[in-house]
Amino acid sequence: MTTRLDGPMKVTGQARYGTDHNVPGMLFGYVVLSTIAHGEVAAMDVAAAKSAPGVVAVYTPFEPLELHTPVSMLGSTWVPLQNTEVAYYGQPIGFVVAESFEQARDAAALVEVAYHELPALTSMAAGLATAEDAPPARDGSPPSLAVLAPDVESIEHALAASPVVVEAMYSTATQNHAAMEPHSAVAIWEGERLTVHSGNQAANLQAISLADALGVEHSAVRSVNPFVGGAFGGKGHTAVPAFLAAAAARELGRPVKAALTREQVFTATAGRPATVQRLAIGAERDGTLVALRHDSWSSTPMDRSFIEPTSHGTSREWYTTPNVAISQKMVPLNIPPTTFMRAPGEAPGSFALESAMDELAVALEMDPIELRMRNSSLAPPGKDLQWSSKHLDECYAAGAARFGWAQRTPTGRVEGDWLVGLGTATAMFPALRFPASVQVMLRDDGTAEVATSGADPGTGLLTVMALVGASSLDIAPERVTAQLGDSTLPAGGLSGGSTATASAGSAIMVAAPKVIDDLLALAAAPGAPFEGVEVSYADGHVLAADGRSLTFGEVLKATGRPSIAAIGSSAPGEELTKHSFSSFGAQFCEVRVHRWTREVRVSRMLGVFDAGRIINEQAARSQIIGGMIWGVSAALHEGLEIEGNGRLANGDLAGYLIPVNADIPEVDVQFVQYPDTLHNPLGARGLGEIGVVGMAAAVANAVHNATGTRVRHIPITIEDLLED
Ligand code: MOS
Repeated sequence: MTTRLDGPMKVTGQARYGTDHNVPGMLFGYVVLSTIAHGEVAAMDVAAAKSAPGVVAVYTPFEPLELHTPVSMLGSTWVPLQNTEVAYYGQPIGFVVAESFEQARDAAALVEVAYHELPALTSMAAGLATAEDAPPARDGSPPSLAVLAPDVESIEHALAASPVVVEAMYSTATQNHAAMEPHSAVAIWEGERLTVHSGNQAANLQAISLADALGVEHSAVRSVNPFVGGAFGGKGHTAVPAFLAAAAARELGRPVKAALTREQVFTATAGRPATVQRLAIGAERDGTLVALRHDSWSSTPMDRSFIEPTSHGTSREWYTTPNVAISQKMVPLNIPPTTFMRAPGEAPGSFALESAMDELAVALEMDPIELRMRNSSLAPPGKDLQWSSKHLDECYAAGAARFGWAQRTPTGRVEGDWLVGLGTATAMFPALRFPASVQVMLRDDGTAEVATSGADPGTGLLTVMALVGASSLDIAPERVTAQLGDSTLPAGGLSGGSTATASAGSAIMVAAPKVIDDLLALAAAPGAPFEGVEVSYADGHVLAADGRSLTFGEVLKATGRPSIAAIGSSAPGEELTKHSFSSFGAQFCEVRVHRWTREVRVSRMLGVFDAGRIINEQAARSQIIGGMIWGVSAALHEGLEIEGNGRLANGDLAGYLIPVNADIPEVDVQFVQYPDTLHNPLGARGLGEIGVVGMAAAVANAVHNATGTRVRHIPITIEDLLED
């Protein structure tokens, strides 16, 4: 167990986030947002704003900042002010720059906007009629697909032939990442070179997207973000303030700081789509699945830039069944942008699938764990490649014992005024990794450094890198520092997709042997201490065949080298043709529903996870705890409400509920550890996202166990549980 290296900096306020940077001559920008959901900006009267105290410039679609749409591995990123179209309420349509934040904010209020307003479609329910096929899934597969047994005509036939069938509609709410650090940037030009301080999930990707947006060489932009106050997918794309600050700073020849207010974050960034999902599961009376159909609808903004892939993310992979059919549609609406949010696809998809599995268990009068174990997949249906390593059965066995599952009854129990129920659900999240390069440096003072561009948005990656560096160099972790969040460092993947540990860790395991080889060559070179002698490396020392040994620091000193460094790169390879890869988990929760007030309290939670090798148990636990809490939050708290005119009714932290300490009991986490070296040399699979998966269903299933009421949407509210 290692406490995180950046912890002391953060809790003592020494960690400098994006907007903590202040430079002489700096200006402040404030973003102006639309107040209609659909139409065109007809005119903007900026005269009053321009003559307000301290105002230096006002940019609008009529006096724009030149920006181009950047395209990266995440798709294209929207840039503001390039046309007069308005596609949602709260869309950035202007940027006021002044000598102080207050002056910019006050002047922004003086901007008068005239619109040609058009009818807006903002309701998911109303929009279902206009649904379109979603684009192909992440792996390129089509929006609809079916894998059927040879003699089966259609999924409907398979369902009709099933002795037991459950079928239901489920829905999940729009969510916002609500990261503690609002999206913001400080942009500083020095001649032709730009430095941007802005929290993001990958410094190198942010630098490239800014350079492409500004039309300059990639090497002209440096993105710096060693500290990121939460991201969760919401800081994958470069944010509006970064584009505007960078472009305005270039125009004005002065540094510019821009930060969204908390309310602005809810519309000027992006959130999780709402979903509607129809599940139909057919089974034999012994619980063996016969057919599974999952049709999903995801909200998407009018530019159709992101959908929540619930069908592809869950029903396609989780269970063995001879007949599976999925479809994924999107519902374009005049709503704020949507994007990746922790376990995109799997989080809301698992609510529907794992609720439906619970309904099937009830229909079969079967234990829900037994039902899941009976149908646990050895490989994703329709793919020949078996999971590299799957110990979900052990997760369930260990979890059931630890949680006291055997005491559960099909109708819960009563304790005083509280109806008590237990629920469970499976969690899965694909194990992925991205190409990454890491530099490992040895210094003559006996310390080492591992460095990659990437980002640690609070995951603990920095500490994990130091630990992997230490074990790869065979030295104590105290002697290793890590550097992250600077695009001038070797290009190091993305803190997204639960990939960072496997990506950066694998690259460290390539870089460390390289730098050790260089060290050995140096130690035995002409004039060096071990000239001509056979040398080897262990425990931070160069060992000579004649019995002498020196630490690597001593070797460097003796050879007059302050430091040596090597860069190692690693990328997914032929393992992808041999196995399928996923992490697994079993979620458990106990809820208490008050007999009279109908409030739901989660009273116990346990998650048992199979995520390969765990590098730093403390950070891993806290990642999982955060995810599980978010699952409870999705189940009982979070949901953005949109008014008919497209305005968010609760787009702030007063109205958008997130759990507080009183909502969350102690969270129990356990790992079963089977290093998955078929996936990557480190053996660690991702665990950043899986913690949220399944938990909302576990809560809903526990509510059903306690009350007998099946709620098929989240968040579950008191009203859902009132009796007539
Ligand atoms: Mo995370 S939703 O993979 O950035």
